[in-house]
Amino acid sequence: MRAYPRIRFMGSKYRLAPRLAELFATLPPGAAIDAFSGSGVVAYTLKAGGREVLANDHLTFTSTLAEALVANEGERLSAEDVERICSPSRDGRDFIARTFDGLYFPREDHAFLDAAWSHVDELDGAKRALALSALCLAAAQKQPRGVFTVTTPRYDDGRRQLRMSLEQLFREAVARCNAAVIPGAARARCGDVFDLDEPAAIAYLDPPYAPPRDDTCYVKRYHFLEGLATYWRGQEIMWETRTRKLVKRPTPFGSKRTAPLALDRLFDHFRSAESLVVSYGSNAALPADELEALLRRHRRTVTRHEIAHRYAFGTHRTAERRVATEYVFVGR
Ligand SMILES: C[S@@+](CC[C@H](N)C(=O)[O-])C[C@H]1O[C@@H](n2cnc3c(N)ncnc32)[C@H](O)[C@@H]1O
Repeated sequence: MRAYPRIRFMGSKYRLAPRLAELFATLPPGAAIDAFSGSGVVAYTLKAGGREVLANDHLTFTSTLAEALVANEGERLSAEDVERICSPSRDGRDFIARTFDGLYFPREDHAFLDAAWSHVDELDGAKRALALSALCLAAAQKQPRGVFTVTTPRYDDGRRQLRMSLEQLFREAVARCNAAVIPGAARARCGDVFDLDEPAAIAYLDPPYAPPRDDTCYVKRYHFLEGLATYWRGQEIMWETRTRKLVKRPTPFGSKRTAPLALDRLFDHFRSAESLVVSYGSNAALPADELEALLRRHRRTVTRHEIAHRYAFGTHRTAERRVATEYVFVGR
């Protein structure tokens, strides 16, 4: 699991992965679904544990990470691939330079991304997914806190990555992505959880946690990565926003008004799975006891595991909420 490239992703279970691996190992053998795969680290953990796995997420960039790092059984980017991607543009495209000038990165970084994409367009399959994943990892590393809600580097946390070019960061990210590729049966899918229609012994469910205030919107924080994974094709930019955000992707799990019903529907949706493994945070609006009661309506036995967890994601304003109890419920 330690080979998995770390990305600062809201709700990532990177630190929890060893505990989850122990827990998965106690469950009967069989295929697993990671229905909200995010960074992909849990799907990777399941794969590393010898299970066949399907990683699903409704965002393109997260599904691309899963395609490159989970579903991929053996493709790697060669030194020649990397040189080609880092060479001058094939066609002079400049969408990123024009759209984001003065925003997230210096001009030369935007030019690098445009030129890199002109070569990525020549790739397909796992190589394309690897290249896009490495571009996303590089862009996330150079953005303070890894989120794209701020356009000016208001603070500099002293990380060396903030002073490196995106090209250098990309080259490093390729090495980490290549090193993570392991053999094993796995697939990645981009789509809504309720459209998943596959049998599995284990369904691992880690939906967004609706917070007490506001909502949990991944597109608001990671719109640049979602755009970068697609070269903004098929994406709707809200041109009136200073940060060039993308239109939100609605999800019923993100707001406290709709989350209880959505969770109930979710547990029903995976009723044929032998085991449901549900991650849940103590900082969610719906208390863990209520989540557990909901799960008990669908499962004969439910066990609760509590793990003190420090979130990888947090702002200064919410720093006190960074340490939270992470619950893992296992319903059989
Ligand atoms: C808490 S994160 C998962 C984190 C992941 N387990 C990890 O370790 O990185 C929740 C994920 O659910 C995805 N998501 C939200 N609503 C969804 C839906 N309706 N269908 C599929 N994925 C969804 C988000 O894009 C996000 O990646």
